[in-house]
Amino acid sequence: MSKEFDVLVIGGGPGGYVAAIRAAQLGFKTACCESNPYADPKGEPRLGGTCLNVGCIPSKALLHTSHLFEEAAHGFESQGIQVGQPKIDVTTMIARKNGIVDQLTGGIKGLFKKNKVTQLNGHGSFVGRAGEAWQVKVGDEVVTARQVIVATGSKARHLPGIPVDNKIVCDNVGALDLDAVPKKLAVIGAGVIGLEMGSVWRRLGSEVTVLEALPDFLSLADVDLAKEALKLFGKQGLDIQLGCNIGEVKVTKKGVTIAYTDKAGAAQKLAADRLVVSVGRVPNTDGLNAEAVGLELNERGMIAVDDHCRTNLPGVWAVGDVVRGPMLAHKAMEEAVMVAELMAGQAGHCDFNTVPWVIYTSPEIAWVGRTEQQLKRDGIAYRAGKIPFAFNGRAMGMGAPEGFVKMLACAETDRILGVHIIGANASELIAEAVVAMEFGGAAEDLARICHAHPTMSEVVHEAALAVDKRPLHF
Ligand code: FAD
Ligand code: NAI
Repeated sequence: MSKEFDVLVIGGGPGGYVAAIRAAQLGFKTACCESNPYADPKGEPRLGGTCLNVGCIPSKALLHTSHLFEEAAHGFESQGIQVGQPKIDVTTMIARKNGIVDQLTGGIKGLFKKNKVTQLNGHGSFVGRAGEAWQVKVGDEVVTARQVIVATGSKARHLPGIPVDNKIVCDNVGALDLDAVPKKLAVIGAGVIGLEMGSVWRRLGSEVTVLEALPDFLSLADVDLAKEALKLFGKQGLDIQLGCNIGEVKVTKKGVTIAYTDKAGAAQKLAADRLVVSVGRVPNTDGLNAEAVGLELNERGMIAVDDHCRTNLPGVWAVGDVVRGPMLAHKAMEEAVMVAELMAGQAGHCDFNTVPWVIYTSPEIAWVGRTEQQLKRDGIAYRAGKIPFAFNGRAMGMGAPEGFVKMLACAETDRILGVHIIGANASELIAEAVVAMEFGGAAEDLARICHAHPTMSEVVHEAALAVDKRPLHF
């Protein structure tokens, strides 16, 4: 007899595990199936998806270690600390990162137990309907559930003719697991992964060249932010080449060579010890058997959903990287909670206008809402306040004077339309802007809120004041 649940979640990443936990909290008999080939110490597929295993968490662990290394190498001396030339033990760094992954992925298991979510080990694949319910094959057994949430996530997009072995030519999986600091590292794609992973290995001593197809750098970001970032990364020694057209990539005995044409159309060849290919991600729908049950995909191969993550099939929902929208863990988690609450008849809601973006380079880059170029394009009248961190006492004390906060507010109503930050702790500072925007706040609201002194958050305050042309410290 098949196992029966109220809710079956397919995929145990941030979208899936959060959906399962929230559904169980709301009283549904819930199961979550996961087919991650990487097993935990008990031999079961690890939960946590891309985020915990080969994404957000391991990358941030390596970014932290490499940041400390760079500080020790270049930031200490001017403060009177002499430690000599630091050395990196890559094995220990990777082991620490793996330890964090073990702990957190195991933690999801604990959360499942606590919330009475059943973990099913195996790949989920639609079979068909059983009355009002859906039958899904998980491994060798068939599971029946009235509601199914597809949260199968994404995987790295690879380029034709550039096979990834995750040793010499890596995607995110291999880039997080290099066994030594490559003397020369090439990266294809100057997006979020290229910048974060390029930063990790550059800080540890690699000569990093990033080859980007587009003529513009970080075209998703506010143009001022992107300009400042390009300047600062260049100063740090990250060689970012825009407008490149990648040709033949050859793996050699020594490493890899990449033929490409540069912005000017000139033929170039780059030799490197390792190559990271980070050119975006594609949705995971392999083996889901979507066609057999008529589950609709969009033109990009993502599961087609409405604003509430409903698919075209009754009782089937989809969240996270496998659907439209930014491929971010917190967006997946928001959708997950929304879907579970909608299933329970509650008013689940997701505000896609206030999903923050963070790039964990140094300085960090973070934004929420609309960019200046979008406002111009849409003909929306706005006022801008922009304040550099260089005028902030805390930033000076921390040795982090780079960057700025830029706030964009509606010229008519003063409502905050976008906040763009490049600077230390931008990842944390952006939360204030998200809250303000969620509450429909005006720049004047932030300008009239007391901010602790000395903190970096004072620059957010000053930017709000600057919208009305009355900054106090600039
Ligand atoms: P996933 O995390 O991809 O999880 C999907 C899960 O479903 C996987 O475990 C997979 O094994 C499983 N699965 C797939 N098909 C099936 C099936 N048929 N049956 C059973 N199981 C299945 N986002 C951020 O917000 N912040 C960051 O700092 C950040 N850093 C990142 C760094 C890197 C290097 C990468 C690659 C990504 C990063 N992301 C970050 C993006 C983030 O990881 C994803 O947006 C997030 O993991 C999406 O969650 P998800 O649950 O939709 O999918
Ligand atoms: P991305 O979409 O951020 O960047 C890919 C880059 O590769 C783009 O600039 C694109 O123009 C370029 N590109 C595409 N094809 C190319 C080609 N043939 N040659 C050269 N350049 C090419 O994708 P990335 O970096 O792979 O990351 C995937 C996603 O993972 C991100 O979009 C983001 O959603 C998520 N992520 C989020 C992080 C965070 O929140 N801090 C960190 C890392 C990843």
